[in-house]
Amino acid sequence: MIATQLRLDPLPGCGARVKAVNLADLTDAEVDGLRQALFDHGLLIFRGQSLTPEQHIALAERLAPIDVNRFFPAAPGYPVIAKVEKTADQMTNIGGGWHTDHSYDAEPAMGSVLVARDLPPSGGDTLFADMYAAYDTLDAETKAQIAGLRAVHGSDHVFGEKGVYAQTDQPELAKGGVETPETVHPVVIRHPGSGKSVLYVNPSFTLRFEGMTREESMPLLMKLYAHAMDMSRVHTLVWEPGTVAIWDNRATWHFAKNDYHGHYRLMHRITLAGCALEAA
Ligand code: SIN
Repeated sequence: MIATQLRLDPLPGCGARVKAVNLADLTDAEVDGLRQALFDHGLLIFRGQSLTPEQHIALAERLAPIDVNRFFPAAPGYPVIAKVEKTADQMTNIGGGWHTDHSYDAEPAMGSVLVARDLPPSGGDTLFADMYAAYDTLDAETKAQIAGLRAVHGSDHVFGEKGVYAQTDQPELAKGGVETPETVHPVVIRHPGSGKSVLYVNPSFTLRFEGMTREESMPLLMKLYAHAMDMSRVHTLVWEPGTVAIWDNRATWHFAKNDYHGHYRLMHRITLAGCALEAA
């Protein structure tokens, strides 16, 4: 089966909903089709699934090798599944700012597979922004300005001993002693799976342009971020029991809304390994 034979409905803003597949029982052709659809659309949403943790792992392994996140706590008994959890008495959520997973790695994660496990009565939506469209809709002058630029990404300021999470009520995400070297990626990458150009900087992990200070970098970074956040290119995923989202971390950003204080939310995330990124 090729991607076009899957039942794909484009979603408002970004991504596609895939209908009539059982993620626990895919043919090899369906897996290949889903991987290509992921590269092409950036975000795939599935409703009405009932994946066990074992089936979640099996699905991820069929899409790509698993890249275990070194900061998130693991789901009990499943070291490759990251727990994305907020309890009723916590104020801080995980992923509550625009980002793409693992851009701080030399070989950033290809994708993530997120399964809803326990949802608040309302709220807790996840926003996804389309970075193919963000690049395509930049004006010619900005495209010329960022052509050939590279940017430095890091995670210390978020997950380090003195990072953002250390100051919150989720301090276990701040990992002293975990190696977090900075890494450099092109600002406009050639997507390894689709061949299309993608804007590859993000507000959470991009520190500065290579060869420039953060202060020198911020005006252009802020301009790119404001453009990329345009809500006409953002999809709001309202989770339901049985929803699974698979996103491509090179082609999208995401943002977990933190608007359900007093309620519990638990998601299980598996991150898929990627590769070094080349300039478009
Ligand atoms: C994340 O992976 O950043 C969390 C997304 C979510 O909890 O909706």
